[in-house]
Amino acid sequence: MTMSKTGILKSSLSKKYVMAFTGLFLCIFLVGHLIGNVQLFSTGPEGQAAFNSYAEFMTSNPLIKLMSYLTYASVLFHVVDGFVLTIKNRKARPVNYVVEKGNLNSSWASRNMALLGTILLVFIVTHMQHFWWTMHFGDIIMVDGVKDLHTVVMDFFNPTVNRLAAVMTGLYVFAMISMGFHLNHGFQSAFQSLGLNHPKYTPMIQFVGKAFSVIVPAGFASLPIYLFLIQS
Ligand code: HEM
Repeated sequence: MTMSKTGILKSSLSKKYVMAFTGLFLCIFLVGHLIGNVQLFSTGPEGQAAFNSYAEFMTSNPLIKLMSYLTYASVLFHVVDGFVLTIKNRKARPVNYVVEKGNLNSSWASRNMALLGTILLVFIVTHMQHFWWTMHFGDIIMVDGVKDLHTVVMDFFNPTVNRLAAVMTGLYVFAMISMGFHLNHGFQSAFQSLGLNHPKYTPMIQFVGKAFSVIVPAGFASLPIYLFLIQS
């Protein structure tokens, strides 16, 4: 093997590590974000006050700010390395193997990680414009001295306020189904990339990955559906 080929292999390997680390970090972010979002099920004045002060804390605490910057960096590295790895894989194998068309030795999700990831990227960018941008730079009403993000989210999925609420609810649910498939392969794949293969622990990791890929996206999707239904 020539030096350059070794170099390419090494850089592919380090890219796989970056994918795994950033992917797992983003899974931790998802758990935190979901716990925060659960508060939005409380739609009355008490829920409003609690969620708004939580959002205020999340945007001002220095430690959380650091976590936010790590999240943005993780998304960036995960996306860039994901694209580079996909292009390299395609170049290495210009014609798809016939067996790859079936599900004999790979799942549909594993063969479509780039497509699913691209859907998620589009979702994250538009999603940040919906709420993050509004929270940081938008015209947002103050209630009891803090920004009223609670009402922004409620109104976003309220068909009597936002005429696109049904479309948005549908798009959020579609994005969460895509995230479910992406996580279904990605979670266990990250552990494999890190070389954490063990006859005893791998089945457990696979089980946790499968459970995570159903519970977390379902949890996220349930909120837009709930807010849309109770306000219709
Ligand atoms: C489907 C239900 C979801 C709702 C209602 C929701 C709501 C929100 C809200 C209100 C914010 C603004 C928080 C702030 O800036 O203080 C936010 C930020 C954000 N959301 Fe979501 N979110 C959902 C799902 C997701 C998912 C599935 C992802 C990732 C795939 C995601 C990624 C982000 C990111 C990266 C930020 C910026 C966080 C930061 O600045 O630290 N969200 N979301």
